Amino acid sequence: MRIQRGTRAVVTGASRGIGRALSVELARRGARLGLMARGKEGLEAAAAELPAGDHVTAAADVSKWGQTSRAIDRLAKRLDGIDLLVVNAGVLHYSPLMEQELSDAEQMVKTNVFGTLYTVKAALPHMVASGPGHVVVLSSAAGLRSFPWGAVYGGTKAFDRGFAEALRHELAGTGISVTTVYPGEYGTTILAHQRDRLPAWRTNDEERPVSELVDAIVKGVEKDARAVYAPRVVRILGLSGIAPRLMDRLLVRIRGRAAAPRLD
Ligand SMILES: NC(=O)c1ccc[n+]([C@@H]2O[C@H](COP(=O)([O-])OP(=O)(O)OC[C@H]3O[C@@H](n4cnc5c(N)ncnc54)[C@H](OP(=O)(O)O)[C@@H]3O)[C@@H](O)[C@H]2O)c1
Repeated sequence: MRIQRGTRAVVTGASRGIGRALSVELARRGARLGLMARGKEGLEAAAAELPAGDHVTAAADVSKWGQTSRAIDRLAKRLDGIDLLVVNAGVLHYSPLMEQELSDAEQMVKTNVFGTLYTVKAALPHMVASGPGHVVVLSSAAGLRSFPWGAVYGGTKAFDRGFAEALRHELAGTGISVTTVYPGEYGTTILAHQRDRLPAWRTNDEERPVSELVDAIVKGVEKDARAVYAPRVVRILGLSGIAPRLMDRLLVRIRGRAAAPRLD
């Protein structure tokens, strides 16, 4: 689909990071935005930053079905339909599982798994009723190959991948298409709470500018791409499914032994 004047777009996790930057770009192209996140202040600040337009916000925790469905219904009503849905809200806590607080692990599952499910489930009826449309699901490089200290995060992002992959086929004939996005490491606030405690294979230096990812997502939507890998090299992580030992060896060379302590 073309993103243009009048496109009705709902973005979750729109108050910071990828969701906020993507919302600015969509609005710049003329879209009307429905922004969602938990924090009202962040939402208002993000809305104030958007290029002029009739944008709306709805505070909701996507890990709660009631809040999510009410927010989506409200946004669909105020935008008079939904053409583009960006399922982006997500959280990340890196830690060895044995040391990880169960509450952190649960928050990832509730937000990244149930949040994705609830958002899409609530929005699809509005989208089908609005005519042709597009769903973007933010998975991760970690959804292709899960890394040490990221067992739960990688698991949730593999869910996002599988969920979106099936829906792209399942929705054939409805006018709704689906693109799955696999970002590598981009400079956002997602690790702000643990900058000083990252896995040894992950440093702050590798982070790329979010504008690069935003461009790739917009192009992906407009081309109706099945998948967006950003940067492109992320795509090779998909080989992990058929040549896991080869991938482990490659990762050790690029990111050190901590990325694959076992080579058997
Ligand atoms: N940054 C990366 O390098 C990277 C790489 C791969 C994949 N991703 C994926 O990209 C997505 C966005 O990440 P980001 O880096 O932009 O994160 P971020 O900077 O931390 O922003 C996260 C956004 O999600 C919202 N959010 C968090 N929990 C929520 C909840 N329960 N309900 C509603 N909104 C919620 C936050 O607002 P509130 O706190 O106010 O709710 C915020 O607007 C995530 O799904 C992440 O897994 C990111």
